[in-house]
This record gives sequence, structure tokens and C-alpha cells, in this order.
Amino acid sequence: MLSRSAALHLLFEHTKSDSLRRHCFGVETCVRWYAERLGEDVEKWGLAGLLHDFDYEAHPEEHPQWGMCLLETMDVPTDVIHAIGAHADYTGIPRESLLDKYLFACDELSGFITAVAYVRPSKCVLEVEVKSVVKKLKTPAFAAGVNRDDVHEGARLIGLSLEEHIANLIEAMKGNADELGLRGVAVTA
Ligand SMILES: [Fe+2]
Repeated sequence: MLSRSAALHLLFEHTKSDSLRRHCFGVETCVRWYAERLGEDVEKWGLAGLLHDFDYEAHPEEHPQWGMCLLETMDVPTDVIHAIGAHADYTGIPRESLLDKYLFACDELSGFITAVAYVRPSKCVLEVEVKSVVKKLKTPAFAAGVNRDDVHEGARLIGLSLEEHIANLIEAMKGNADELGLRGVAVTA
């Protein structure tokens, strides 16, 4: 299977934006966290998270099909490619496997939690609370690009309440705050 370092190389080759790279790290972190708890293949799930949007910046019109075609020529498991296809509604690829469902469930919400951390003076994910995430989800103008229906559908797909799923993702992201750039900054009064 494609190694993480090779996947990272692929991501960086096609994605120059820092924020999109971080988004991919964020989703990777969250699906790995779930894989670990579910006894699933952590490396494989991580690969799906890391690569799910790798072609988005360079090929927005053909995403994720462009990326899927390239991954098919590489040593990437078919269920990883399937999950990448299924994370986008418009492909019509159904979300069947656990990986399909968890990748979808972590995608928008991990980005949203990052946005919640960023508006704090400290920019630190360690301070993000479930209730503030819930509240901001109910504020349409906040991170308006995040589709609220997708966030709710994600939690439903994995059989958790929205609050539980949010708490899990905060926990996951706390555990990798440095790589995600969410350790925070010192705040002077
Ligand atoms: Fe994404």
C-alpha cells in the first residue's frame, strides 16, 4: 500500500494551499482516531483522509474523479478509492462501508471545528467546547461554506449524536494539534 510519506508527497505536489493541506491533515487525523477505536486499519483509513481532496485545488471541475483515476494507477486499495469517490455527493457513489461513512462524517465537521478554533484569540483547539461548536453550527453566517445538512447526515451515518461526534473530533484534533497548526498562540491581555 502507498506509504504515508508517498501520499504526503502526492498531496503536496497537487495542493499548494496551506489551508487545504491542513484540511487534509485534519480529516486524516479524525478518521485515524476512529479507525483506532473501531479496530480498523489505521494506515488505510488515514490514507483516505489524507488524499480525499488532493486533486481539488488543481482539478476542481473534475474532483474527485481525476484523483481517483490517478490513485487507481498506484498502490492504493480499492476501498480507499471508493471512499474518496463517495465523499462527494455528486459522484452518486453510495456510502456503504464504514470507511465511506466515517470519511464523509469527518470531512466537513473537522473543517468546521478548525474554523471555531481559529476565531478564538488563542487559535487553540484545546479550548474548543462542544457547545460552542453546536452554537456556531446554528449560526448560518459562520463558516457559511460548511454544509450543515452534511454535518448532520455524517453523524447520523455513523450512528452518533451530533454532540458525541463533535466531542470525538475535538479529542482527535487535540491529539494532533501541532501538525494541524491548532496548538494555539500566546494571548497577551
Ligand atoms: Fe474535504
